[in-house]
Amino acid sequence: MYLDTREFADNWRDVYRLCTAFIQPRPIALVSSISADGRRNVAPYSFYNMVSANPPVVMFAPSYRRDATGKDTLHNVEATKEFVVATVTENITEQMNDCSFDYPPEIDEFGIAGFTPKPASIVKPALIAESPVNVECVLEDIKRFGDTPGAGSVVFGRIVAVHVDDRILADDKLVDPNKLKAVGRMGRSTYARTTDRFDLPRPTARDTNVG
Ligand SMILES: Cc1cc2nc3c(=O)[nH]c(=O)nc-3n(C[C@H](O)[C@H](O)[C@H](O)COP(=O)(O)O)c2cc1C
Repeated sequence: MYLDTREFADNWRDVYRLCTAFIQPRPIALVSSISADGRRNVAPYSFYNMVSANPPVVMFAPSYRRDATGKDTLHNVEATKEFVVATVTENITEQMNDCSFDYPPEIDEFGIAGFTPKPASIVKPALIAESPVNVECVLEDIKRFGDTPGAGSVVFGRIVAVHVDDRILADDKLVDPNKLKAVGRMGRSTYARTTDRFDLPRPTARDTNVG
């Protein structure tokens, strides 16, 4: 198939569905934030990645809803300039999904999903105790692609603290993927486990015959 997406401006959801079914598997950020008046919020975002190592920066991208309103997480990080990203792992997928309903801003998804809020070290939003990895971030920048339905805003956050449960560490002090059990988002309503893996060392100068 071939699709000229410029002809699909009115059918952006078709392009979204097509592209998210091949841009996969995507890691899932469970973003904890608070509003200006201190209300807690949790929501999953699979447009998520680390985009700078020095300084360490992550991004996630809340889209405008179909009624052209911005999501609570976007409003919160704009207002308070802080957020926490918890990694979505097998043990919390159902609870993560519970948080993805568009609840009104006054609803605290910690309560809805049965998550335990744990005080962060540096930022005000709470860590999610049920996730083995929580990353504290301060807002670095927001890049907006408009304010019409489906328009994304990329939120960049500088990592200021990382919490990893010692029980998921390997001997080399990095996270053991067998213990992390991260979950990825595929297209449609499909998710992936991270249990089928292989190693592929990067090529050296000798392998490439360069020089
Ligand atoms: C696994 C998963 C990943 C999601 N990823 C995104 C995303 O990257 N961007 C987005 O705008 N919405 C995403 N959503 C939908 C939001 O989680 C949903 O709109 C949520 O209600 C937003 O909550 P908030 O208004 O409290 O921020 C995702 C939902 C699920 C279940």
